[in-house]
Amino acid sequence: MDLKSLIRDIPDFPKPGILFRDITTLLRDPEGLRYSIDFFTQKCSDAGLKADYVIGMESRGFIFGSLLAYKLNSGFIPVRKRGKLPAAVHSIEYELEYGTDCLEVHQDALQPGSRVLIVDDLIATGGTASATAKLVQQIGCELVGFGFIIELRDLQGRKHLPNVPIISLIEY
Ligand code: PRP
Ligand code: ADE
Repeated sequence: MDLKSLIRDIPDFPKPGILFRDITTLLRDPEGLRYSIDFFTQKCSDAGLKADYVIGMESRGFIFGSLLAYKLNSGFIPVRKRGKLPAAVHSIEYELEYGTDCLEVHQDALQPGSRVLIVDDLIATGGTASATAKLVQQIGCELVGFGFIIELRDLQGRKHLPNVPIISLIEY
């Protein structure tokens, strides 16, 4: 299936010069959604990836991460932006294009040795995925890999990620 044809390109969103790759058009297509998750699951299995938990980053990572966790028989753990999680958290600051932001995970969600797969809809600069990797590695988790629906190759985000398998379904 041509998954790329289900991604909508929106120029100059959220600011001038950014070509936004919109996944909502893929999500609303029943066959496209099923195919993308089945294909993702197959790629994880081909790469031998087994995870106790799939970690998904707010907010688009929640959608694909939880669907994939269901298929992999893993649990799902949300990584959220600052101040959203109710119980005690581990936090990590990371660089944005301008300034910094913060990602958080519940302290009791992960234990040292937990095998985790980090999933998001898209990798651009790699800042979000690399901060999430640092967060789980600081806890002592075993990072088994990364999965993205979309990879923006020109931005070389994967250069900032640790040396574990990186799965992406669509590349630009
Ligand atoms: C987007 C996307 C990734 C991140 C990728 O999320 O869903 O999480 O940006 O960019 P990076 O590789 O340069 O870090 P965004 O922060 O826009 O939040 P959203 O999912 O809530 O829209
Ligand atoms: N997140 C970061 N860059 C993006 C882009 N070009 N399209 C959609 N989401 C993004």
